[in-house]
Amino acid sequence: MTVDSHADAPAVAAALASRVLDAVARRPSLVLGLPTGRTPKLLYAELRRRSAGGAADWSAVRTFNLDEFVGLISGEEGSYRDYMERELFSAVGIPPAHAGFLNGGAPDLDAECDRYERAIAEAGGMDLLILGIGANGHVGFNEPADALHARTHRASLAAATRASNAYLFGGDAQRVPAEALSMGMATILRARAIVLLATGPEKRAAVTAMVRGPIRTSLPASFLQLHPDVTVMVDRAASPE
Ligand code: PGA
Repeated sequence: MTVDSHADAPAVAAALASRVLDAVARRPSLVLGLPTGRTPKLLYAELRRRSAGGAADWSAVRTFNLDEFVGLISGEEGSYRDYMERELFSAVGIPPAHAGFLNGGAPDLDAECDRYERAIAEAGGMDLLILGIGANGHVGFNEPADALHARTHRASLAAATRASNAYLFGGDAQRVPAEALSMGMATILRARAIVLLATGPEKRAAVTAMVRGPIRTSLPASFLQLHPDVTVMVDRAASPE
């Protein structure tokens, strides 16, 4: 793992935006894996700003989001698809057919998870996967547990995770769905390159344990140590101790 530390969150976002836009310029049909959450908002704002007026061509880029809530119709308010449309897709012009998403409203959720695994494989796999990290060490909705799922699966959300998503539901954690669909650990580890993005002091303990500690299912992000091309992009507050 390479740790790439910057002075503050805007500097992290600027550096990662440069990496993403360079990758899109080199490979117009780039396959990107994308996170939601509060942390990547600065990255998406930077990508919108630097793509304005056709400055970057996203028309051939394919994306796959990491996870989605169960029970919301795709694109409904509070859904991660709605977040992505607002934060990135509509502004940079990613064609809807190129935006891969789990549908948490699908009638057969197991079949939906299988479909997603196939869709990622048929796109040739992810070239670059950007991840956030929970203060509890989760990646996607792979929460700390005795055992982790390899493939895309249905997941129960930890209370802390529901609380940290309350901002999408008018601040009410009770309205955050209790379940989600998420890429699994092997889905994540098959991406050719991974960038984990973490800013703010509340992420420092998880980042430190992920980078310096043993690999353990109680800290799912620690499995990223098994991957040959992971960059941990942090501000000073989240830098590992
Ligand atoms: P956050 O979420 O960016 O809102 O802190 C990150 C995550 O839970 O993966």
